[in-house]
Amino acid sequence: MPIISATAIAHPNIAFIKYWGDLDPSLHIPANGSISMNLEGLITRTTVSFDPSISQDQFMLNGASTKVEELERVRKLLDRVRQLATMSAYARVESQNNFPLAAGIASSAAGFAALSLAASHAAGLILNEKDLSRLARTGSGSACRSIPGGFVEWSAGHDDKDSYAYSIASPDYWDLVDSIALVSREGKPTSSSTGHYLADTSPLQVARIADAPHRLELCREAILERDFEKLAWVVELDSNLMHAVMITSTPPLLYWQPASVAIMRAVQSWRRNGTPVCYTIDAGPNVHVLCPAEVAESVAIQLRQLTGVIQVLTAHPGGPAIIENNHPNKGETDF
Ligand code: DP6
Repeated sequence: MPIISATAIAHPNIAFIKYWGDLDPSLHIPANGSISMNLEGLITRTTVSFDPSISQDQFMLNGASTKVEELERVRKLLDRVRQLATMSAYARVESQNNFPLAAGIASSAAGFAALSLAASHAAGLILNEKDLSRLARTGSGSACRSIPGGFVEWSAGHDDKDSYAYSIASPDYWDLVDSIALVSREGKPTSSSTGHYLADTSPLQVARIADAPHRLELCREAILERDFEKLAWVVELDSNLMHAVMITSTPPLLYWQPASVAIMRAVQSWRRNGTPVCYTIDAGPNVHVLCPAEVAESVAIQLRQLTGVIQVLTAHPGGPAIIENNHPNKGETDF
């Protein structure tokens, strides 16, 4: 067998309605559905080469070897691909992010989306978008949302077959901008995987999950109606609910820094004064500030003036994961 390789590109995504807590942690079947927007301009490019001459899988991220746990997660996904393609060769995986890892932007979503597409393509599998999304989910839950383009909903489902993401609106449907205000470059002290595991220790998680279908509906409607006020209300509520669960877990997870809170306060006061803007925060201290493109430049300028803001990155809605030669995946094989 010759060396067979493929390169894929994927974007990270920002969740408007968050995934927090699993029904089945081994397959990342989430406790609730979620909705996100892909982030244009932020890119992970991954090349997978199946090479019969190597004796184990290898993984380099931004030119360096990774921690054993990260290699293990990559290996697990490659095993799944090898099983589907009935092949045995090990692979060399080389991944590059064009955004700093230490920026605290979830890189695992883009990473596992690009890995799933590149590995399945190199292995000769032609998977449709749904099955690629399912495959990416097994690497990292939120990665299933980086397979389709634009605004994406992850239907929670109940098992491996029916838990996957699909696009609800294309990237050009609504020109929203995510201005990511970095307040720290340190890696997160507690991984999302650990956080998902702890979610059920919070007495608030039951209420958060019970109300999730309502928030998903409002968020979906807000996107389809391009109704920023409605979006802002439900996005901030959902972020605050997730952080309420985090703070009340055992042990508690408090991801916010003083500067994160200062930005949240500033965003709320700008909105009270008439600027269409809202915030959302993932499992880290950096704040994603959403607004329509018309006001994005002035919002970014104001964010840069706040104490504690190190840098502001901006992203419009991004497209789907693609093979490097620019052919979006249109395969039809089921698994
Ligand atoms: C707070 O998808 O990173 O960003 O499946 O363990 O890799 P694993 O977790 P991950 O969790 C994402 C958590 C979040 C919210 C979200 O993106 O929905």
